[in-house]
Amino acid sequence: FFISLALAVGAYLLGSVSSAIVVCRLMGLPDPRTQGSNNPGATNVLRIGGAKAKPAAAVTLGGDTLKGVLPMLAAHAVGAAPLTLGLVGLAAFVGHLFPVFFGFRGGKGVATALGVQIGLYWPIGAVTAAVWLFVAKVLRISSLSALVSMALAPVVVWLFWPEPALVGMQLVVTGLLFLRHRSNIRKLLRGEEGQIGATAEDGP
Ligand code: G3P
Repeated sequence: FFISLALAVGAYLLGSVSSAIVVCRLMGLPDPRTQGSNNPGATNVLRIGGAKAKPAAAVTLGGDTLKGVLPMLAAHAVGAAPLTLGLVGLAAFVGHLFPVFFGFRGGKGVATALGVQIGLYWPIGAVTAAVWLFVAKVLRISSLSALVSMALAPVVVWLFWPEPALVGMQLVVTGLLFLRHRSNIRKLLRGEEGQIGATAEDGP
């Protein structure tokens, strides 16, 4: 029990480290919480990063994904049962959404949720990433790609690893992720959601 608790607390603390905020600070970019969509995530770093946008967004994406991967690998390393795996994954994701280091105001969780899936069982993450990339390639909208791929994710988890604790974890993650994308969903419905890489000045 204590190992599970330590893993979950560690996952939450690691999840609380916002890659977007750290990267923007280190690279001299504006605080992503005050520009563009005001979201500390890779999509918004790409939007506001100017000349450094691509490397900054790539590092943000990598960092936020690792926050999901590493705790899951640690949990596997100690032979954690599915319930612990689910709790650790949820803890990392919740850390990104409600970070203790940034006033509990974090991001939308797409990269960290993907990282949790990769660390849980990489084919699950591969399917989510493939769906994300496919929708992004066709429609070029980051939030929509995330919503479609994460809506499918509980089914994907169930197909690859039909364990109630893991499917349940993914259902909660997907639910929270949709709640976090309320403003994006409103914009999508109005046809106002911007395309990937478009800056604020480009308009919708
Ligand atoms: O799914 C990516 C996402 O979180 C959208 O971010 O900045 O366009 O609201 P943003």
